[in-house]
Amino acid sequence: MYSEKVMDHFQNPRNVGEIEDASGVGTVGNAKCGDIMRIYLDIDDETHVIRDCKFKTFGCGAAVATSSMATEMVKGKTIEEAMQVTNKAVMEALDGLPPVKVHCSLLAEEAIHAALWDYAEKHEIRIEGLQKPKSDISEHDADEEY
Ligand code: FES
Repeated sequence: MYSEKVMDHFQNPRNVGEIEDASGVGTVGNAKCGDIMRIYLDIDDETHVIRDCKFKTFGCGAAVATSSMATEMVKGKTIEEAMQVTNKAVMEALDGLPPVKVHCSLLAEEAIHAALWDYAEKHEIRIEGLQKPKSDISEHDADEEY
């Protein structure tokens, strides 16, 4: 049911932990399943390159695997490039997720966006395409196609 890559990232998640004095921190939850995700970003203020990214979660296995992959994918990218790391891109990189688990991949995407929003607010910058994050993503589950 799960791809080998999903199992690998679930069993050996990359980038678990926190970053002290992070440039941006984002926390989102999904009230429907009760899972919570927090993402920490370390961003170079001059180049806007994401030097490091870590996550902590009270989440299911699919949330762990997608966050592990998402943090790997945004590391070393600029903020603008990281905005292209959607939950769909993360799922593709993991060779797919079962349909009922697609919403779990949104936790990582939304938490990264929330951390970028935090960074943008602190530095009074505007990030193209970034919208104010929701703290509960189950609200926008309804607009997502499964
Ligand atoms: Fe809640 Fe997966 S069931 S994130």
